[in-house]
Formats: sequence, structure tokens, C-alpha cells
Amino acid sequence: MAKDRLNFCVFGAGRIGKLHARNLAVHPRARVSYVVDPVARLASDLAREVGAATAPDAAAALADREINAVVIASSTNTHVDLIAASVRAGKAVLCEKPIDLDIRRVDRCLAELKKHRVPVAIGFNRRFDPTNRAIQAAIGRGEVGEVEQIVITSRDPAPPPLSYIKVSGGLFRDMMIHDFDLARWLLGAEPVEVVAKASCRVDPKIARAGDVDGAMVILKTRNSTLCHINNSRRATYGYDQRVEVFGSKGMVRSDNLRPTAILTSNERATDSRDVLLPFFVERYAQSYRHEIDDFIDAVLSRRKPSVGAEDGRRALLLADAALQSHRTGKTVTVRAG
Ligand SMILES: NC(=O)c1ccc[n+]([C@@H]2O[C@H](COP(=O)([O-])OP(=O)(O)OC[C@H]3O[C@@H](n4cnc5c(N)ncnc54)[C@H](O)[C@@H]3O)[C@@H](O)[C@H]2O)c1
Repeated sequence: MAKDRLNFCVFGAGRIGKLHARNLAVHPRARVSYVVDPVARLASDLAREVGAATAPDAAAALADREINAVVIASSTNTHVDLIAASVRAGKAVLCEKPIDLDIRRVDRCLAELKKHRVPVAIGFNRRFDPTNRAIQAAIGRGEVGEVEQIVITSRDPAPPPLSYIKVSGGLFRDMMIHDFDLARWLLGAEPVEVVAKASCRVDPKIARAGDVDGAMVILKTRNSTLCHINNSRRATYGYDQRVEVFGSKGMVRSDNLRPTAILTSNERATDSRDVLLPFFVERYAQSYRHEIDDFIDAVLSRRKPSVGAEDGRRALLLADAALQSHRTGKTVTVRAG
């Protein structure tokens, strides 16, 4: 392996694959060598843009000994097979969330990973957001004392297409999974109980597809710290992302980010501000750059990636528990093992 640079293959040239490939293309310690996507036009357009080649399939790209690492940004149902093929070929992996929608497949994947000493990171990018990092650092410095309650608000501007909803695995596994990971990280402890209530108030077609479009969850840790997560698939005012941490000595919270910091006053309003950033690509732009940078640094310096496969598994366990609680109306105890 070149000591100062990684050659990447990017699987998936959709929304998030494009974003990762573009970040890799301008990273001083990375190069995109291949883009792989069964939709040939998507692969060739992105490959051309980032100075890479296309490969006909995963096996062809993974056979290239010059490739050190892969980004798996393909559809969720392809993740576990691509992770397994990549680690068998000795390539470091950054895989998008979720690892899979089925915890048994995730467990089998993790068992396979144990056979290989290859770094695997999961794309929980919110941990790399400067605002979330500042909150976590404030907790670490004891600025709020003992954490007693956390509130995480995450509302999308508008629902994704129904075709996406149908294969997404549902709101808990597809959308709230980010918040479950953020909750674990901020709590610094594993939730052991989960209560969920969910509804479909945005679009009845989402209910007919078997999903919900709004949910509220409460997590409880062994030492009785509570975390409330609320999600909606629609917020008329933009992408609503806020965190509040309350403790024995105070409170730290984050407000939404906006395109600019200007305040406008006129006959309708005083100090009115810009509307919120539209969606995740804009709101979490920095986090994706930091995530890639952290992954490259971990691989080149041979340290463990900051967010690993076990984090992916733990977040899915919480999503499954929330879904079960929503369906049964009961508090669900999360199994640790
Ligand atoms: N971390 C985040 O903020 C974030 C945001 C969006 C999506 N995601 C995750 O990223 C993944 C992709 O989501 P998206 O929104 O980019 O979807 P998308 O549908 O826009 O793109 C997925 C692409 O994968 C391609 N693909 C399918 N099978 C493949 C294979 N075997 N090899 C290579 N490419 C293949 C598809 O042709 C498609 O172009 C999902 O798992 C999703 O949960 C994460």
C-alpha cells in the first residue's frame, strides 16, 4: 500500500455515491480509481467527473491490487455482499448506513469480518458534524454535569418517492437509524429500553406501503438517562436538525444551520432569518468531508475507524426494538449480545 494515499473504488453512483466520490476526488490522500454501478450511464458520468475508470462489476474492481479501499454507497440490499467481497479481497471499507435491514444478515456479516483484519467503517456521518462534535465535547468537559435527558429532533423537508419508501426498510431502520447512532454516541451508554409511538399523517400512500411518516421514541439507559428522538418525513420550513442535552449542571443545545447569518427586519417581522438549509447534502456537507478524512486517516495510520460495524449493528438493534414497540404498544428491552 502506498504510505500516503489510498486508491478507492466507489460502489454506487446515486445520491450519496456522487457526494463521496466528489469528496474523495479533492482529498489530498485519496484517488478514485473505479466507479461501479449497474446503471452504466451513472457510473460513466461520475467516473468521468472524478477522473476514474468504470469497472463492469465489483469482482473486476476488487481484483485490482492497486485498490486499497472501497466506499459502499450502493442500495442497502447490496451492502453485506459487497462488504464481504471487499474484506476478503483485503480492501478497507467505508459502508453507508444501514449495514442491512435484517439483523441476522448483519450478525453473519460481522462474524465474517472477524476472520479478516481489515478496517470497516459505517457511514454515520452525524458524528462528524462540527456542531454535534461540539455538543459531545461539551458533555465530555462536564459542562452540563451528569446527563439526564437528551432530545434529538430530525425532520426531513419532504418524503422521499414512494418507490424509495417501499424498499427503505421503514422510517426506523432507514431514517431514525442516524438518530439512534447519535443517541448512543451522546449518551456514552447503551440504551436498554425502548418505547415508540408512530403515525402516518403526511401521506396515506406511505401507510398503504406499510410504513409510518412520523415517530417519537424514548430510549432509557441502565442508569436511567432518557433520550427522546422525534422524526417526521415532512417539515414545511426545511430540514430541521436540532439536539438538546440537559444535565445536573446545565444544558447545551444546537440550533439549525442557515445559509447565511443575516437578520432582516421590516413591517412583517423583526430579525427574521434565512430559511433552513434544504436537506442533508447541504446541512451535513462538512460532516461527509470529515467522515472521509477520518476514514483515510484511520486506514493510513492503522488505527480503528471511529465508527465501526458493531455501531451499525447496535443502531439496527434499536431500530428493530422501536419498530417492535410501535407494533406491540409495549416497552421493549434491548438485548445486549
Ligand atoms: N449517510 C447518509 O446521510 C445517507 C444519505 C443517503 C443515503 N444513504 C445510504 O446510502 C445508500 C444509497 O442511497 P442513495 O440515496 O444514494 O440511493 P440511490 O438510489 O440514489 O443510489 C444507489 C445506487 O446504487 C446502485 N447500485 C445498485 N446495486 C449496486 C451494486 N451491486 N453495485 C454498485 N452499485 C449498485 C444503483 O444503481 C444506484 O445508482 C443507502 O444504503 C442509503 O441508506 C446514506
